[in-house]
Amino acid sequence: MLHLTVVQGLWLILPAYLANMGATLVGGGPPVDGGRNWSDGRRILGDGKSWRGLVLAPLLAAGLTGLLHLIAQRVPWGLTDFGATPWWFVHAYALGLGALLGDIAASFLKRRLGKERGTRWLGPDQLDFIVGAFVLAFLFSLATAAATGDNWFLDTVTWQLVVVVVVLTPGLHLIVNWIGWKIGVKEVPW
Ligand code: CTP
Ligand code: MG
Repeated sequence: MLHLTVVQGLWLILPAYLANMGATLVGGGPPVDGGRNWSDGRRILGDGKSWRGLVLAPLLAAGLTGLLHLIAQRVPWGLTDFGATPWWFVHAYALGLGALLGDIAASFLKRRLGKERGTRWLGPDQLDFIVGAFVLAFLFSLATAAATGDNWFLDTVTWQLVVVVVVLTPGLHLIVNWIGWKIGVKEVPW
C-alpha cells in the first residue's frame, strides 16, 4: 500500500519538520558560534544558528509530538506513536535535536565554502536536517532500548519509509519555505 507508506513516512519525520520550522519562529538572539570566526576568516556558523533555536525548537517539537502520539493511537493507519510514554518524548526530541544539529553541520560547511548566511545550497539545505534527525533518533533509540527492551528506531524506521522521506522532503521543504517567506517569517524564499 504505497499511499499508506507515504503517510507513515511523512508522519514519522513530522517532529523533525516541526523542529526545523519551529526554529524560524523561536530562533534569534545569541548565535551558537558566539559571533566568532573560523581560521578562514569567515563565521564558524553564522547568525542564522541561534541558541534559542537549538534549545527551544526540539523541545517545542517534542511537546507537540504528544498530540501526534495521541492521534497515532486512535487511527488505524499504522502510524508510529513514537514509542510508549515517556519514550515518545525522547524519540521526538531526538528527531528534533538531530534536525537542528544536521542543519548546523550544513551551515558549518556552507561557511567553509564561502556561502554567506541565507545563501541557497540546493540539496543540503533540503536534506541536512533529515539526515541529522535519523542519525540522532537511531542513537537515542539505542539508549531507550536499554530501558524498554525494544529498539523503537529499528522496529519503526523501515528503508521504505526512509526512501519516502528522502524523496518527498526536498519538494515539501521548498514549498513550506516559500510560504514562510510569503507570510514574512523567513527572510529568503528557500
Ligand atoms: N534558526 C535559528 N537557530 C537555529 C536554526 C535556525 O535561530 N539553530 C532560525 C534563524 O532565524 C534562521 C532560520 O531559522 O535564519 C532559518 O534557518 P536556515 O534556513 O537553516 O538558516 P539560514 O539563515 O538560511 O542560514 P544558513 O545559510 O546557515 O543555512
Ligand atoms: Mg537556509
